[in-house]
Amino acid sequence: MDAAAWHMQAMTPPPELPDPMTKAQWSAWSETARASYVRAFRVAMRARPFASPIHERVAERMTASLGSALLEPAGARTILALSAPFSAGKSTMVKAWAQHLHRSVLAGSAPEFLPRWNPTPGLSADTVPVSYVTLLSDSRGTDLYAQLLNFANKDAGGSVRAVVQFAIRALKTHGTRLVVIDDAHMLRTTSVTGRATLNALKHLNTELGELGGVLVLVGADLTGGDVLADPQIRGRLAQHTFGPYEIDTDDGRRAWQRFLKAAETTLLPYLPDNSPGDIAQGLAEYLWIRTTGFVGDASRLLIDGTCHAMNTGQRLDRFAMDPVAVSQRAHDAQQRVELLRRPLALAGPSAGGEDE
Ligand SMILES: Nc1ncnc2c1ncn2[C@@H]1O[C@H](COP(=O)(O)OP(=O)(O)O)[C@@H](O)[C@H]1O
Ligand SMILES: [Mg+2]
Repeated sequence: MDAAAWHMQAMTPPPELPDPMTKAQWSAWSETARASYVRAFRVAMRARPFASPIHERVAERMTASLGSALLEPAGARTILALSAPFSAGKSTMVKAWAQHLHRSVLAGSAPEFLPRWNPTPGLSADTVPVSYVTLLSDSRGTDLYAQLLNFANKDAGGSVRAVVQFAIRALKTHGTRLVVIDDAHMLRTTSVTGRATLNALKHLNTELGELGGVLVLVGADLTGGDVLADPQIRGRLAQHTFGPYEIDTDDGRRAWQRFLKAAETTLLPYLPDNSPGDIAQGLAEYLWIRTTGFVGDASRLLIDGTCHAMNTGQRLDRFAMDPVAVSQRAHDAQQRVELLRRPLALAGPSAGGEDE
């Protein structure tokens, strides 16, 4: 992704949801009209993240950390870190969060063009308030800088020193205030190259801080990893973590139900045969077992289940969701949950009287 694609994404609203239908309208429609309605519903729903209390709370805390970091004097500032398990929804959440900031800076600009500005009199450049890069496996310090250059659509050739200087200059030229490094667990931090990578990260943070900006690291289980263990990084770290929804505590169950309640409010207008509580209460356990609390799997089950219910003119229940495929992660986790729930058939003395 480069800055132009990021801007386009940030400024383009998702496709509109079709208006809900009554049962009478629905039955007056042809098979083809119904199928295209369900397709439009699915496209529009899948394009928008579900509201999720866990993710919203982390986003609010990150906003508070960012607000505080932006008040610090120029120079090495607080680094924000977001750490959560694989597929817990980090990238989706942090992109929505950072794109909101992007929009607040560039409100009203057309999605097709990055607005220009004049960093110095006589010089005109694209405005790139937020840089978002996703690291490749085993990334070194120079790879990090090269990706920042690529994001700004600039060639990243030349010596290491040249790449670093060029990238820092690009941040200044494009007015970048927030650099988000996603999949930061891909940074190579072991051995001699690892030290150089960590130094590059610290250097980036200092230079960005000099420009009035803040660095955000996002990664799978970053907490406890090498990057965040570095004492100099730890000294200026605002760490945020979250996990999937859990249902083994009262608080956890309440949060899961709040997530499902919000989803229910969105879906119910499209489910004339369902009533309030059918999803948030009636299907809470079923949905958790099938997804082990991961929002991506839950939203897929709910949306595709709703499409199935609309297509067949039935209510949304477990039978509408049983055929919906979830990720392999969810499938594996479901098997583990079911195994643990299976009653143990304790072996007693055999009645058959076999001695050996
Ligand atoms: N709030 C949400 N609503 C619906 N789907 C979501 C939401 N958050 C994440 N997802 C989906 O879950 C899957 C994993 O999300 P992603 O953000 O890539 O996770 P991570 O970066 O933690 O690995 C993706 O398919 C994504 O579209
Ligand atoms: Mg990700």
